[in-house]
Amino acid sequence: MDFVEQVKSQIDIVRVVGDYVRLKRQGAGERYVGLCPFHTEKTPSFSVHAGHGFYKCFGCGAGGDAIKFVMEIEGLTFFEAIKALAERNGIPLPRTEDYTDEDAKKRSSLYRLHETAQDMFVRSLWSNAGESAREYLQRRGIPRELAQEFGLGYAPAGGQELTRVFEKQRVEAAMLEASGLVKSRSSGPGYYDTFRGRLTFPIHNESGKLVAFGGRVLNADEQPKYLNSPETGIYKKRTVLYNFHRARESMRKRGRAVLVEGYMDVIGAWAAGTHEAVASCGTSLGSEQVRSIKRHTDVVVVNFDPDRAGENATEKSIQVMLDESVDVRVLHLEDGLDPDEYVQERGAEAYLRAVDEARGYFLWLADRAQKKFDTTTAPGRVKALEFLLPSVQKVPSRLRRAALADEVASYLGLERSMVLDEFKASATRRTSDHLAAPPSSAGHLERLLIRCLLNQPESAAEILDILGKLDGWKRFPTAAIFDAMLKVHRGGEALRFHNIEARLDGQAKSILTEILLDEEIYQESQNRDQALACLQKLDLIQFSEFRRELKRRIREAELSGDLEGALNLNRQLAELDANPTG
Ligand code: UTP
Ligand code: MN
Repeated sequence: MDFVEQVKSQIDIVRVVGDYVRLKRQGAGERYVGLCPFHTEKTPSFSVHAGHGFYKCFGCGAGGDAIKFVMEIEGLTFFEAIKALAERNGIPLPRTEDYTDEDAKKRSSLYRLHETAQDMFVRSLWSNAGESAREYLQRRGIPRELAQEFGLGYAPAGGQELTRVFEKQRVEAAMLEASGLVKSRSSGPGYYDTFRGRLTFPIHNESGKLVAFGGRVLNADEQPKYLNSPETGIYKKRTVLYNFHRARESMRKRGRAVLVEGYMDVIGAWAAGTHEAVASCGTSLGSEQVRSIKRHTDVVVVNFDPDRAGENATEKSIQVMLDESVDVRVLHLEDGLDPDEYVQERGAEAYLRAVDEARGYFLWLADRAQKKFDTTTAPGRVKALEFLLPSVQKVPSRLRRAALADEVASYLGLERSMVLDEFKASATRRTSDHLAAPPSSAGHLERLLIRCLLNQPESAAEILDILGKLDGWKRFPTAAIFDAMLKVHRGGEALRFHNIEARLDGQAKSILTEILLDEEIYQESQNRDQALACLQKLDLIQFSEFRRELKRRIREAELSGDLEGALNLNRQLAELDANPTG
């Protein structure tokens, strides 16, 4: 057996997923449910099907087999996931060369190039070339140990240093370009360094691997102030937070994360003993970053710069975090100081105290509403209320919403009952948005037929042989699924979910998955001859053919001594004769 198949056959998806998600068995089938690890939810829409070896979330659409699950939750390649699963299950690995896929190879080269760049940047910071950068660090109050802890470096101004190192190592052109560390000249052949004459900040992913750089100019008049690596095969801006790999431990210990705007703020906060500070790298905060934080703590203190840009970013981030059910607090530092400046001017203790005392996001928002709108007038008050509603909508507890209504009412000078009514209306909008069931275009009988075929592989072969001779099903929305089943059957493969799924596109896949997870259909499909009955009720086979088929089966059951089966079929035949249209 192929190694991948061997791993697949030896692992139990319920155990694999169970390492990350608390699963509960559902009903009599082989279905387990839990809270989806890929998006935030309060009621489970995440299912695992033990027998067919797949998972599916109806909330966010995530789905696949055990390998896909490990790939997604740990951010691994296919090969890396197989390797991890084999190791965890004590399955000996064959020679790895056979399974190193192109992607993994490319990624490991990219990691190597970044390490090479990092060595060069750090060496140049502490050599003659780095003198002006060292002076800059001194002016910013960053001692040598701190700079070393964060791996700060200096990209020489010449613009050829890194390019030369790579050329000496004979790195291929395609790799060079993919790294984002050098750029090809617009005129003529050759490359030049992306980062030139800048202080460099290495950026790591969650597992501490170097994936990108930020580079700051040394002189205030140069532009742009910060240059960041482009997205590459190892750097996805949406998923990375600066300093996350160092901050995780402190996030868990302190029970909070501090979100700041810049690299310098992270370093300043760190110097003050706030090791749980992270920053998004030149992009606004996204839900994937929030979910990374959420795996370690539920509390986030937002401490952006107290300027207009910082306040707008705070407002946006609050919404993103509320969507992920984060307990959001906001720290607005006084006198226009950003975190780094505050630590430098007021000291570590003052900063720590300020972080400890950060207030819930709602008060900050209400303050902002009051500044934004003229709440001395009725229309202004209504505008302010409208501004606050989206955030209230995201508060899941009714009690908490009622308390907020009180606060808002007194804050804005509005009637409490009116505020509460607004809150109620918007909370209803919230739940009705939420409960929209996944649409299924497939009719009940088709779905039942598909489920019967999957549940009863013994009789499925027979039914598929019949189906193969018919055309009627080709006009069903589920035609692609029947077609895939026929192909699997004719190819001599097992009629299992993953074999069928492999032949389907997105929409058909999700219909199939949904059918497999339908508890009611499962109950119905337990009846042995249901599949045949479906064929008839779907008008795929005519009454007379159906009758003939039933009789043939009765005879067969009698001959094989299956009395119970024969009786069952006889009952069906009697029902059919009494009610020929089904
Ligand atoms: P700031 O301008 O606040 O920088 O931008 P900072 O980190 O506080 O640095 P100092 O204290 O001014 O030296 C905050 C963050 O926004 C991104 C960077 O990630 C920066 O750390 N940024 C800023 C850019 O990506 N490009 C820019 O040109 C400016
Ligand atoms: Mn700043």
